[in-house]
Amino acid sequence: MKLGVPMEPEGETRVGITPMSLKKLHKAGFEVIIESGAGKAANYHDADYQEAGATVGTREEVLACENIVCIRFPGTEGISEGANIACVADPFRNPHYVKACMTSGITLLSMDMIPRRLSRAQSMDVNSSQDNLAGYKAVLLGAAHVPKGIPMMTTSAGTIRPAKVVIMGSGVAGLQAIATAKRLGAVVYASDVRKSAAEQIESVGGRFIEVDGMDDFEDESGYAKPLTPEFIQKVNDTVCGVAADADIIVTTARIFGRPAPITVPSTAVQNFKAGSVVVDMNADVGGNCEDTVAGEIITTENGVIIVGTSNLPGTLATTSSMLYSNNLTTFITSLVKEGAVVISDDDDILVGAPEDSDFYVKGMGGVLICKDGAMHPKQTRLGGVLE
Ligand SMILES: NC(=O)c1ccc[n+]([C@@H]2O[C@H](COP(=O)([O-])OP(=O)(O)OC[C@H]3O[C@@H](n4cnc5c(N)ncnc54)[C@H](O)[C@@H]3O)[C@@H](O)[C@H]2O)c1
Repeated sequence: MKLGVPMEPEGETRVGITPMSLKKLHKAGFEVIIESGAGKAANYHDADYQEAGATVGTREEVLACENIVCIRFPGTEGISEGANIACVADPFRNPHYVKACMTSGITLLSMDMIPRRLSRAQSMDVNSSQDNLAGYKAVLLGAAHVPKGIPMMTTSAGTIRPAKVVIMGSGVAGLQAIATAKRLGAVVYASDVRKSAAEQIESVGGRFIEVDGMDDFEDESGYAKPLTPEFIQKVNDTVCGVAADADIIVTTARIFGRPAPITVPSTAVQNFKAGSVVVDMNADVGGNCEDTVAGEIITTENGVIIVGTSNLPGTLATTSSMLYSNNLTTFITSLVKEGAVVISDDDDILVGAPEDSDFYVKGMGGVLICKDGAMHPKQTRLGGVLE
């Protein structure tokens, strides 16, 4: 079984497989071919891969493999009919990738579609491994740009009060952001629209921002449901009110399969303190702050710094690649049966939680998006997007 690891497109510093994963891949029966230079930006060099037993090859050689594993969708050119691609295709935002694979008879396995509540999925969950690092980095970026110290300090020149940090959205990234800000010595407030988040926020040292009349906006899969416009307004007013005198605001809110919700409207930014920093973790997917410019750090007229840095996991490429590679290796080796990669309809990771399970979500399959020119019949939600 040949496993090809292509160079990622420009702007992506991570690599899909790191040398530390090769032992496990070889043991499962894979022969790994990596495109020359693919790991360089993450500090994994051709010689490291060769030493661990991989072949360093050209792009053509890599794409000719029957299994292609990477982070970004590599396109379909040069990839053979019947091959498998495992990557983060983000199919709800990129239905054209799905169509291209269907037209070319390529099997698309989208790692961001892992049914993450299944316990077997946890070691394959690239969303969690990357979001966790991104949440950590977001707070460091906030701390680097804010013109004041974070912890309380008692000095002979005077006492400094701790910085106030507000985290909007407390999923995987948000909880790590709360914990990181707390470790730096900040006083941390955090919001979410899922009631279960309150306890998690408190457990990592944050203070939950209560919103009057809050219902529970959690769906069967544990993600947030879309909110009514009235309630969005109410949450935003309350949370942005708490953020008005904050030093750092980190926005992490997302709704599965939809554009990022606005949690910081422009009118709220106008009330934020001069010198405060908003780090928008969703700058790449529309932004949570109305004033965010993707890929840029801007300062508003009233002196608020808005950090729209793209691809936060990619700013920690050595670590994020290592965790991604561990997730991907666990996933791809789990598909090997008697020396071949088997795409089976009995595999819950591939086709989603079974109907009688607590984690079944109607219309949602798993990682398997399309095979033999057709979308998997369980992906009916995605099918709706493709029409
Ligand atoms: N293996 C598992 O069981 C597993 C793994 C990972 C995540 N999870 C759970 O899945 C859930 C979602 O996690 P995620 O990090 O992927 O979420 P996500 O990235 O989809 O969204 C980030 C957070 O934003 C919140 N949010 C959405 N709209 C908001 C708004 N307007 N204001 C404030 N917050 C808003 C969401 O509720 C979520 O907590 C969490 O409960 C998490 O603990 C479970």
